[in-house]
Amino acid sequence: MVATARGMAATVKVLGRGELGRFTGTGASEVDRFEADLRRTMGVEHALAVNSGTSALIAALVGAGIGPGDEVLVPAYTWVSTAAAPLAVGAVPVLVEVDESLTLDPVDLKRKITPNSRAVIPVHMQNLVCDMESIMAVAAEHGLVVIEDACQAVGVRYRGRRVGSIGHAGVFSFNQYKNIRSGEGGAVLTNDRTVFERAAMYHDVGSYEREGFGELGAELIVGVNLRMPELSAAVLRPQLAALDAQLERRRRHRGIMIDELWHSGFADRGLRLVPHHDQASAAGLAVSFDDEAAAVELGARRGVRRLADTGRHLYPNWRSIHARTPVHPRMDPYAWAAREIDHGPGSCPDTLRILGRTCAVDLAPELPTPAFRALARRTATA
Ligand SMILES: Cc1ncc(COP(=O)(O)O)c(C=O)c1O
Repeated sequence: MVATARGMAATVKVLGRGELGRFTGTGASEVDRFEADLRRTMGVEHALAVNSGTSALIAALVGAGIGPGDEVLVPAYTWVSTAAAPLAVGAVPVLVEVDESLTLDPVDLKRKITPNSRAVIPVHMQNLVCDMESIMAVAAEHGLVVIEDACQAVGVRYRGRRVGSIGHAGVFSFNQYKNIRSGEGGAVLTNDRTVFERAAMYHDVGSYEREGFGELGAELIVGVNLRMPELSAAVLRPQLAALDAQLERRRRHRGIMIDELWHSGFADRGLRLVPHHDQASAAGLAVSFDDEAAAVELGARRGVRRLADTGRHLYPNWRSIHARTPVHPRMDPYAWAAREIDHGPGSCPDTLRILGRTCAVDLAPELPTPAFRALARRTATA
């Protein structure tokens, strides 16, 4: 999927030109073009390509002006980056339960809001979308900035809009496991010019001397270097063009797998679809049971994983977060926080209970549909 003929040709062209950095070449930049493609495809005014999803989260938080003393609400089920990014800007993460949809529970979100809450990062896990309508309503009521973490759902739609384009900002990852990939890579999307300008300045320490970037209106800030290389953009552009076809294949495979599972012995054991906030465009598949034993059994099948067994995405396993060791003793976000924050293993019990009896099913969009059909049959019956 990654090595399309167009992708390989574009890569060779970049190598042939020898202009591998976005701002160091003389011709039109592949990264510039990729950002234009992202703006058009995702329906946003601004897109900033960066070198990872983690970088995109940090740049978006900087863009939104989040910092010391601020609390950022994040789900207890996500990759650790979502909780680590607030710490990188001096803020602290506050864990929120996920509900049966495996995404941020708007009811618990409301419960966890304090006068120090400044932002929320809903995460569209496993190509499953969050309840954005409820989350945006809670955020509006409490004046929270919403940064959608769409790293695991690039291109997926929620009620007609692409995820990542609904909140004040959205972020993508293009790492090896994502819908489109360049090994490492990411992007920030936003319709807010100030968020974009601040994120753009932060992602490039030399932004003040770049052509075009010199016209940024926001007050100059000192940045770092989160720039995307030209080769990454060359690899990503053809994949982005083919993304809707891939999502369509995911949806087709989803239907096939549901059909097979519902004709299997698991159907009599309380098998149910994880509720989805936009059934019509669902591009991921997760199923749950009343009891853990059935989930353990299905989770052992090929192409299926019980979510509690994946480990790394569960908050009790975020060891670097629990360590609370600041990068420097005088740069301690927890010392700047207005109150004690509890991330302990007991802080989000509902999330652990739900993940224990839930399985995610790989929809293998890289497989031709007949091959996937055969795989689905084996998964359901083996
Ligand atoms: C939900 C989520 N957020 C953030 C990230 C961070 O992305 P990256 O690995 O590109 O830094 C990931 C990557 O696994 C992710 O799955």
